[in-house]
Amino acid sequence: MLGDRMQKAFNDQINAEFYSAYLYLSMSVYFEDAGMEGFASWMQVQYLEEQSHAMKMLDYVCERGGRVHLSAIDAPPAEWKSAEDVFVATFEHEKKVSGLINSLMSIAREENDYASESFLRWFVDEQVEEEASAEAVVNKVRMVGGAGHGLFMLDRELGQRTFTAPTGKGE
Ligand code: FEO
Repeated sequence: MLGDRMQKAFNDQINAEFYSAYLYLSMSVYFEDAGMEGFASWMQVQYLEEQSHAMKMLDYVCERGGRVHLSAIDAPPAEWKSAEDVFVATFEHEKKVSGLINSLMSIAREENDYASESFLRWFVDEQVEEEASAEAVVNKVRMVGGAGHGLFMLDRELGQRTFTAPTGKGE
């Protein structure tokens, strides 16, 4: 059974994951509008990933006999200055999310909730990947100078990304 403090923290994080999904969907729409289909597709995959993060957490709360309370999702920004601007914002956002996951882990430890600690380890590892993949795109966009043929080639490369749903609850 989840304690009240842990349950509240998970509910807040479920909201944060859905906000992340919403943010990346907004970025996807921004790229779609700019005719950058590969970038848009990359962001749609990111959107699906965030939804899967939220669902993974939601399933866990239910499995532990807790109660999920869905709350309003804030509206994300809709405009950015450039592809670089979008990916810098993505990288910053993921660093913020890593901090939130670390806070959840701290609560699990303070509450001696070993099951939650074990569950959260997947998210700690996932955040390492999330930060690295956003930073890699920031570097690539900068490498090509954010324009021209290089950006066109990068758009094609990013369009190759596919979504793989995490398998099982503890994966
Ligand atoms: Fe759910 Fe991008 O972290």
